[in-house]
Amino acid sequence: MHIHRYEKIWILAGVAMLVVFLATITTAAIVDGFVPPSRVQSIDPAKVASTPPFDHPGLHKLGNGVYEAYYVGHIFAWDPQVLEVPAGAHVTFFVTATDVVHGFTIPKTGVNTMVSPGWVSSVAYTFKNPGKYLLLCNEYCGAGHQAMAGSINVR
Ligand code: CUA
Repeated sequence: MHIHRYEKIWILAGVAMLVVFLATITTAAIVDGFVPPSRVQSIDPAKVASTPPFDHPGLHKLGNGVYEAYYVGHIFAWDPQVLEVPAGAHVTFFVTATDVVHGFTIPKTGVNTMVSPGWVSSVAYTFKNPGKYLLLCNEYCGAGHQAMAGSINVR
């Protein structure tokens, strides 16, 4: 079988690029300790209910207009289901799950992160406009997935 010289060069270039990309990803994963995106720390999923601050899910005030909100996702609900937030608040969400993978999504805000048992995911948002914001689960998590919703009331 005859392979044209230019074709050989392109095949070699393709293989070389693949090797470089895989080496880059592997090196970054090992050297920098990469974890899944937006997951900031690990947690024992069996002990979430007794691990501060997740033993008291909800809104915690840090300072003037600055808040942290702790959420626990489980089949098929978010805890807390309803969160009251003052207008203008900058809220950093910390979310974990006790059972399976869920998706923490507040439509129209850009807040959207996967939540895995064993990990705490974090995402922040400033609620400038008052109103009722929907909180959804956007990862299929079982028969009651579509019922896994809550709200964030900004006033
Ligand atoms: Cu939780 Cu879908």
